[in-house]
Amino acid sequence: MSIQTIIESIKSVNTIDLFILIFATCISTYIFNFYYKYYTRPNPLPGPFPLPFFGNSHNCGPDVKEFYEQCQQKYGDICEVMLDRRYIILSRPNYIKKLFSPAQFYMRLPNSQGTVELGMCNHGLFFNETYKSWNYNKQFFAEALSAKFIEASIININQIYEEMSGYWQSLGKQNASKKNNNNNWTLETDFSAWFHGFINDVTSILATGKRTYSITSYYNTLSINKSELPDALVEDGNNFVKALVKFLESLLFFSFYSPFTRHYVPIFKSKSNSYLSNRDYLYNKLDNIVKKRRTEIKEMPETRMKKDMLTSLITAETVVEGEKFKPMTDVEIRMNLLDIFLGGSDTTANLFCFITYYLCKHPNVKEKMLSEIDSISKSFGKPYLSCDDLRKLKYCEAIIKEASRLMAPVPFTFRHTTSECEIAGYKWPAGTDFHINFAGAHGHPECWDNPKIFDPDKFCNNDNDNDNDRSAWMPFGGGKRICPGKNLATIELLLLMSSVYKNYNVELVNEHEPLKVNTQLIANCTELKVRISPRT
Ligand code: HEM
Repeated sequence: MSIQTIIESIKSVNTIDLFILIFATCISTYIFNFYYKYYTRPNPLPGPFPLPFFGNSHNCGPDVKEFYEQCQQKYGDICEVMLDRRYIILSRPNYIKKLFSPAQFYMRLPNSQGTVELGMCNHGLFFNETYKSWNYNKQFFAEALSAKFIEASIININQIYEEMSGYWQSLGKQNASKKNNNNNWTLETDFSAWFHGFINDVTSILATGKRTYSITSYYNTLSINKSELPDALVEDGNNFVKALVKFLESLLFFSFYSPFTRHYVPIFKSKSNSYLSNRDYLYNKLDNIVKKRRTEIKEMPETRMKKDMLTSLITAETVVEGEKFKPMTDVEIRMNLLDIFLGGSDTTANLFCFITYYLCKHPNVKEKMLSEIDSISKSFGKPYLSCDDLRKLKYCEAIIKEASRLMAPVPFTFRHTTSECEIAGYKWPAGTDFHINFAGAHGHPECWDNPKIFDPDKFCNNDNDNDNDRSAWMPFGGGKRICPGKNLATIELLLLMSSVYKNYNVELVNEHEPLKVNTQLIANCTELKVRISPRT
C-alpha cells in the first residue's frame, strides 16, 4: 500500500471515528505499558493485583490499618501494593530496623504530586524532602521542644485540664440537681470529643501562645448554662479544629489516589476540590496568625516576648552544622506551625482514648496504676506534678507504651531509598518506596509474648527470661525522621493520666462495645462513651 493510499483512507474516516481511534490507541498503550512495567518490576512480591489508573486504591477500603493487616495475613511480612506508585510493605521489625538505622535513609515520600498540590512539599518537616531545609527545621523543633520548654508547658496544660474538669463538674451537677443530689454526680460523656478538643487547645497555646476554645465549644453543645466567652471566639476555634481534621484526611487522599483519579474521575474530583478549599482556609488562618505575631514582636521589648514556638520560629536564627541560616519566611513558618498542629493534636488525643479503653477493660492494671499515682502525689504533697515527678510514674509509662503497641496512633510511615540496599534477602535499587506497617511489627509473634494481650508488664520486667523484643516497639517511628514530639506527648499523657484518674472514677458506658476506630493517616477514635464521677 502506497503512502498516498494510506493518506486517502485516513481522509475518508470521519473526525469522531478518528478521535475514538486515537483515544483507544492511547488507552491501550497506557495499559500495555502499565502491565509491561508491572510484569518486569524488580523483585516481584506477592500482593493484590493492580488495575490500570487505580492501582490498588480500590482494595484499600475505608480503614487503612485493616488493609495492611489483610495484606500481612494474606501475603506475608513483605509484600507490595500499587497506589500512586509501587510500595513495598514491611511488617517485620528486623526488616524495618534496617531502614531506621541512623545512617540510613532520611527521605519519606519524595516526588509526590499530591503533596505538591497541597503545598506541603519541601516545607516544614513531615513532607519536606530537601535535606538542608528539613535538617534546619528539625534542629528548630529539637530546640523548641527542649526539656525546659516542656517543663514550662506544664502550667498551661494544667490550667486547661482544670478548665475541662470544671466543665465536667458543671455538667455532672446539672444532672445531679435533677435528682436533688448535687455533690454525688455521674456524667456519661464522650472522652474522644473532650480529649480531641483538649489536646488541640493545649497545642494551640504551646505553639502560638494563643488559646483556641474547643473544649468550651463542646461544653456549650452539652450544657444548659453556656460559657461566658463570646460566641465568635468559640466558633472560630471550633472551625479551625474541623479544618485541621479535614486537612489530615486530605493528606491520605492526596497521597493514595493517582493524579488521574483526583483530576478526572467526577466524585474524586469534587472531593479533591473541597479538600483544596479547606487547605486555603487553613493556610489563610495560619498566615494571619503569623502576620499578627510579627507585628506584636516589632512593638514589644525583647524581655516581654512570649516563649511559645511561633515566636521562636519568627525570631529563629539557628546555626546548623556550622552554617548560619536566615530567619524563616512566612510560608516556612506557616508550614512548621501546621506540622506542630497536625503532628501534635490528634495523635496524643487518640492515644489517651486508647489508654482509657484498655484501663477500663483491665481493672487490675487500673488498680496498680492508681496506687502508683496516689503514692507519687502524696509523697510530693502538691497539686501538680513537675516533669521530674511525672517521669517517676514508671508503670503509667509502661501503660502508654503497651497501649501504643496495640493501637499505634500513627499506623504506618514511609521511607524512600537513595542508594541500593538489602532488605529481607532482596537487593533493592535506589528509589524504592517502603510502607512501614507498625501494627504488623507491634503484633509480631516472633517479638512479643502474647502479642494480642494488653499487659504493661511487657515494658516493666528487666529480667533475662523475658523474651519480648522491646526494640520492636516503634510508635514514634525511628532513625533520622523519628517523631520530634515524643517527649512532649509522653509528658502530656502522664499528666493527663495522673490528673484524670487521681480525681475521677472512669468506666465504659458499654463494656462490651469494641473500640470505635477509623484508621487513615492516623488511627482516630471516633467515639468513647464513658461514665465519670468524682473519686472520693
Ligand atoms: C502520641 C503522640 C505521637 C505519636 C504516636 C507520633 C508519631 C509519629 C510518627 C510515627 C512519625 C513518623 C516518624 C517516622 O517516619 O519515622 C511522626 C513524625 C512527626 N511528628 Fe509525631 N507523634 C506524636 C506526637 C507528636 C507531637 C506532640 C508533635 C509536635 C508537637 C509531633 C510532631 C511530629 C512531626 C513534626 C513529625 C515529622 C518529623 C520529620 O519528618 O522529621 N508528633 N510522629
